[in-house]
Amino acid sequence: MSKFSILVLNGPNLNLLGKREPSIYGHLTLEDINNMLEQEAERLNITLSCLQSNHEGVLVDSIHNALNRHQGILINAGAYTHTSVAIRDALSGVAIPVVEVHLSNIYRREDFRHHSYIAPIAIGQISGFGAESYRLGLQALVNQLLIDNRG
Ligand code: DQA
Repeated sequence: MSKFSILVLNGPNLNLLGKREPSIYGHLTLEDINNMLEQEAERLNITLSCLQSNHEGVLVDSIHNALNRHQGILINAGAYTHTSVAIRDALSGVAIPVVEVHLSNIYRREDFRHHSYIAPIAIGQISGFGAESYRLGLQALVNQLLIDNRG
């Protein structure tokens, strides 16, 4: 089997990581997180494409473009998690396995962060482990792809 290719998507304001509310989101930049994921990808023998956008339509387009290119999507949709039916519909439309991640534990925060439009169409969600949420999410996604492609 050829290597799995995973699309890593980050939504609005995640380009500010490192400076943005570090007591909530930590001190690592998005580049640090992507580098950490690249190392994990090497270990898992997969390839990654990483994209961040502050624009809902760009995220929707990138999900559509993942068809026939990527076997899984790891997504932190940022605030769009709680608002975007369009991103949820794009993810369920392409039917590519998805794992949702968040740096913060969204259930310990304001009520408006407790609902995710993505969670019901994702394999699962990892929330609250800082940058480690991404690594755990990538491992869980690849593990699931291996199970689904077995035999
Ligand atoms: C976030 C949580 C969201 O509620 C928030 O809007 C973000 C970041 C997280 O990673 O903890 O932008 O997705």
